[in-house]
Amino acid sequence: MEFNVKSGSPEKQRSACIVVGVFEPRRLSGVAEQLDKVSDGYLSNLLRRGDLEGKAGQTLLLHHVPNILSERVLLVGCGKERELDERQYKQIIEKTIHTLNETGSMEAVCFLSELHVKGRDTYWKIRQAVEAAQGGLYTFNQLKSRKEEPRRPLRKLVFNVQTRRELSLGEKAISHGLAVAKGVTVCRDVANMPPNICTPSYLAEKAKALTEQYENMSFSAVTEQEMAELGMNAYLAVSRGSEHEAVLSLIHYQGGPSDQAPIVLVGKGLTFDSGGISIKPSANMDEMKYDMGGAAGVLGAMQALAELNLPINVIGALAGCENMPDGKAYRPGDIITTMSGQTVEVLNTDAEGRLVLCDTLTFVERYEPEAVIDVATLTGACVIALGAHASGLMSSHNPLAHELLNASEQSGDRAWRLPLWDEYNEQLESPFADFSNLGGREAGAITAGCFLAKFTKKYNWAHIDVAGTAWRSGAKKGSTGRPVPMLTQYLLNKTQAGTND
Ligand code: BES
Ligand code: MN
Ligand code: ZN
Repeated sequence: MEFNVKSGSPEKQRSACIVVGVFEPRRLSGVAEQLDKVSDGYLSNLLRRGDLEGKAGQTLLLHHVPNILSERVLLVGCGKERELDERQYKQIIEKTIHTLNETGSMEAVCFLSELHVKGRDTYWKIRQAVEAAQGGLYTFNQLKSRKEEPRRPLRKLVFNVQTRRELSLGEKAISHGLAVAKGVTVCRDVANMPPNICTPSYLAEKAKALTEQYENMSFSAVTEQEMAELGMNAYLAVSRGSEHEAVLSLIHYQGGPSDQAPIVLVGKGLTFDSGGISIKPSANMDEMKYDMGGAAGVLGAMQALAELNLPINVIGALAGCENMPDGKAYRPGDIITTMSGQTVEVLNTDAEGRLVLCDTLTFVERYEPEAVIDVATLTGACVIALGAHASGLMSSHNPLAHELLNASEQSGDRAWRLPLWDEYNEQLESPFADFSNLGGREAGAITAGCFLAKFTKKYNWAHIDVAGTAWRSGAKKGSTGRPVPMLTQYLLNKTQAGTND
């Protein structure tokens, strides 16, 4: 879809549709009032007759409004003017896109970007609208033999801003929004792909294909044989029960000087997590195809980064692997020597993510990174703690934690910090090895974080548990594309492009 910004008056727009807000109770927004005047009170008459209350998300489509050049006017309820916050704004935009898509307007000029949203500027409003529009149009129908497509889908959306001074800010918002949306789409496509197609080598193919599209990107991979030579025994142990070979895919993005330390993004890429010998219950096991949601998020963020062409160095590491039960599979009781030299007693083969990640986290030491951020659908406990609304953020480095929390706040892709206090380490103690891979029922998201922290002493590190946020269950099940917006915002903030002037 195409986006644009302009600054003009509503009655003069010659478009298939113009979109304006109405507040509760039955109050015209400034722009709607302008239209009302030109049309001799057409809109206020409608409101008086009770056709639209103005509740958030209500819509009313009008045709041939007198003295208006556009074919249609879409009135959108925005709730109480003083209560218009981020969440309502996003809901309103989503509803607008949905309605436009159904009503056959292939282009529209949207004045909702002029609404006052508490604490947010024009840049934010337009960027969110672009992301919401693209997200709302997303479908995953590659594997359906009959594809349903809207008859006359929305093709072009123009945002109106009050002053010409805001035009360049609006344009920046559109380009950033489009980059994020592209990353989100890449993430969702790969995470929705079934586990018989999306294997570790499929992840590698996708990573490679991405790097081939951009001059300043390159691809490399670590195979099982190389992992064995490097002593990545924890990673390999998880993979042993699977017929699909593990692959650690590396996406190199060089936007900064070659001597500048890179930021490394590590993604858990379990293309299927059956639990292994500690097998999971069958109910909803299909959803464990999204246990590569972390890797999908990193792939998406790398896509967005490349699209933004940011002047920094970033490496994306997708830790592809499959966890299956088998005669060759690793078992509870096994003791493994990790690449770091530390030994781990396996108490549960379903706590596999931390094993794949720990060796990957040791592997990336070679890049002498400025920071390492891992993203993982790591624990069910994180879903219990924070639900679907916030990702769990854990970090041993306060400045990095705050940068990520800021990025999540700015992008609307929420995260909430959990502590990594030393006391929790007691839960990982083992009588036979340096520690175990299981922390027990209490504080399961945190003990998983504490496990990873034992492998990240050589650099600044943060961990994002996206078990609750990367996927939506139920009727609309599928990948959400999180935490691509947050990661992309974090990378944007590392550069001048992240500032609003
Ligand atoms: N991939 C799962 C975590 C998960 C659970 C993600 C639910 C998304 C939704 C992870 O590998 C796992 O199985 N974790 C175990 C850890 C436990 C055995 C310590 C869990 O959370 O139950
Ligand atoms: Mn598991
Ligand atoms: Zn898992």
